[in-house]
Amino acid sequence: PTRLVIDTDTAADDCFALLAGALHPAADLIAVTLVAGNVGFARQVENALITLDAAGRPEVPVHAGAERPLLREWVSAENVHGDGRGGHAFAVPERAVEAEHAVDALVRIAREHPGEVDVVAIGPLTNIALAARRDPAFPRNVRSLYVMGGSNNGRGNITAAAEYNFYVDPEAARIVFSAGFDTTVVTWNLTLDQALFDTARLAAISALDTPLSRFFDLVNAPTLAFDRSVGIDGSTHPDSLTVALLLEPGLVRRSRRYFVDVETQGELTRGYAVFDWGVFGKEPNATVVEEIDAAGFHRFMLDLLARRP
Ligand code: BDR
Ligand code: CA
Repeated sequence: PTRLVIDTDTAADDCFALLAGALHPAADLIAVTLVAGNVGFARQVENALITLDAAGRPEVPVHAGAERPLLREWVSAENVHGDGRGGHAFAVPERAVEAEHAVDALVRIAREHPGEVDVVAIGPLTNIALAARRDPAFPRNVRSLYVMGGSNNGRGNITAAAEYNFYVDPEAARIVFSAGFDTTVVTWNLTLDQALFDTARLAAISALDTPLSRFFDLVNAPTLAFDRSVGIDGSTHPDSLTVALLLEPGLVRRSRRYFVDVETQGELTRGYAVFDWGVFGKEPNATVVEEIDAAGFHRFMLDLLARRP
């Protein structure tokens, strides 16, 4: 199995991505690192601990990282995620997070296992950018970096133009795309257009009636309600999709290399991702997933939530 580190702003979809990393046979989840994003930082830490407990993996180290973006103020997504755990009174595990900062942990782990660690970044890219600055060898030491962020059809979710993770810390995203990682990008619209969990797919998950499917239903409820309130007929799972595409590469039907960069100056377009198909004449710096096996991804989630840790 791949040595995996998940960098997350743990709420709702991030929780299911963590479950996948913790339980999939192709993954050896060696650390979870926390970055400022979806909901208040302390809550995100608790959500990660709760999720690892639900997965029966309380021994996985959790490292707290950047509590705000590089230059900007934190932007909450609590209107989408609530507290990130469905407002449910989960028992919060008493264990403390690691003393080591997330950025130090990322750099150390990649140095200890050069070319063997895959990092999945499903929040703003603050920790990943800081790690690349802290250790210029970090991008090379990491085998691959899977990023959930951006939108390549012009449809944003936090603004008309921008996807949340890139919007929150656009400077960090720029640093990451120019840092020399072997990067794969999973965009917001990929989930929306191809991998939506509609009513029938959600019913199939509920019908499992396992501890993890019940966890899913509870934690997913606020984002599902939000998605429906903005006219999306189902539930979006970009973060779990990102982990799924790393662990089961056969789920990728088509991908293409692009030069990717992120807008930091725009008045209307802060955090907008540019996917250049050749106009700039620059070397591609990322693989962008363009088509997936949606039924396969749903099966991936069913297999995951059917497990009894
Ligand atoms: C991304 O933003 C967050 O709200 C989700 O967890 C996901 O990582 C989608 O734009
Ligand atoms: Ca996220």
